[in-house]
Amino acid sequence: MTLMAQDPATRPAAGDETPVVRITGLGKAFRRADGSVAKAIDDVSLDVRPGEFLVLLGPSGCGKTTLLRTIAGLERADTGSVALRGVEVFSAERGIDLPPERRRLSMIFQSYALWPHMTAFDNIAYPLRNARPRPDRATVEKRVQAALEMVGTPELARQYPNQMSGGQQQRIALARAIVGGDDLVLFDEPLSNVDAKVREQLRLELLALQRELGFAAVYVTHDQTEAMELAHRIAVMGDGRVRQLADPATVYRRPVSRYVANFVGTANELVGTVVRHGEGTTTLRTGLGEVTGVRAGLAVGDEAVAVFRPERTRLGADATSGNGNTWPAEVAAVLFLGAQTETVVKAGAHSFRLLGEHDVAEGEQTTVTVREADVLILPADG
Ligand SMILES: Nc1ncnc2c1ncn2[C@@H]1O[C@H](COP(=O)(O)OP(=O)(O)O)[C@@H](O)[C@H]1O
Ligand SMILES: [Mg+2]
Repeated sequence: MTLMAQDPATRPAAGDETPVVRITGLGKAFRRADGSVAKAIDDVSLDVRPGEFLVLLGPSGCGKTTLLRTIAGLERADTGSVALRGVEVFSAERGIDLPPERRRLSMIFQSYALWPHMTAFDNIAYPLRNARPRPDRATVEKRVQAALEMVGTPELARQYPNQMSGGQQQRIALARAIVGGDDLVLFDEPLSNVDAKVREQLRLELLALQRELGFAAVYVTHDQTEAMELAHRIAVMGDGRVRQLADPATVYRRPVSRYVANFVGTANELVGTVVRHGEGTTTLRTGLGEVTGVRAGLAVGDEAVAVFRPERTRLGADATSGNGNTWPAEVAAVLFLGAQTETVVKAGAHSFRLLGEHDVAEGEQTTVTVREADVLILPADG
């Protein structure tokens, strides 16, 4: 399949299309210098659909780069298989391992890795000039020009990378990635060296270009905002495993674990023990008394944690009776952040964060409330 423009509003089909990437049971361990073994990726399975933007999100050292490199063929996994467009390119069991140049994908690294001694034109032409069969001069010229136009920078053809802004380099790197018509681009934290303001802008540009050009992307980042903004789906990784794979809203609103809840946003937490289940609810005994939230598949007596988001946590006058959890609290800090204000309250030994306008001052006594429907009860898995 070659790259085709797609309606920017079109989300990738969830149907029975052949996935661009199918990873099954992939595992990879490294032996450290001291002889101990690090499981960089551990039994990972996932699919990437045509045109999908999949983000691998997780802290440093959780295996994101290793996973990306095994897809590219730059790293050889110990177990499992990788199929691209329905064709197995790696199988530990069957001894298949296609080299990177035969996998029809491109990779964009942190520094964009443009050749410094080549113009934008020659950088973009590079994969074509090294392709087999090699297209003729006129074809190379035409395709490089088309790629430059696709990313909106035809005027940069004769510029060298050190004469370009970060945004221009990103566009040239993207043009180089798509010039061969490959429908899969892998990104390893391409924006992590860029300052915040420029990063926001590059993100929006990348988003627009990916949706417009329609290639599938696997994008590694440790930045949850970046993940939320770019992704059709996010694979939240921890310790070499995929902890949750879902669209951004689901990962944020319905995290499957305490780990995921904390990695994709700020989580107010109360640790406790399950005491009973009600109609659609589960109640914990915690240091602040009983807390009730959305029913969880836990047993009475299990250790658990009640998790609720700052923007769902309310103060004083907002307090609802009936289906809320309410505690007396003292305002510990009011932090003006520009677009929003964060309020920190102390209830007993616990601190909670709240977002939104609250007409309170530091030291004031108040009540903090969160609706049962806004409290998730999750296993206390650390
Ligand atoms: N070539 C290597 N040799 C030994 N250990 C490695 C090597 N590459 C990665 N690791 C280890 O594998 C784990 C995952 O690394 P990596 O995939 O780079 O994580 P991330 O990209 O999420 O930061 C880490 O513990 C790292 O130290
Ligand atoms: Mg990495």
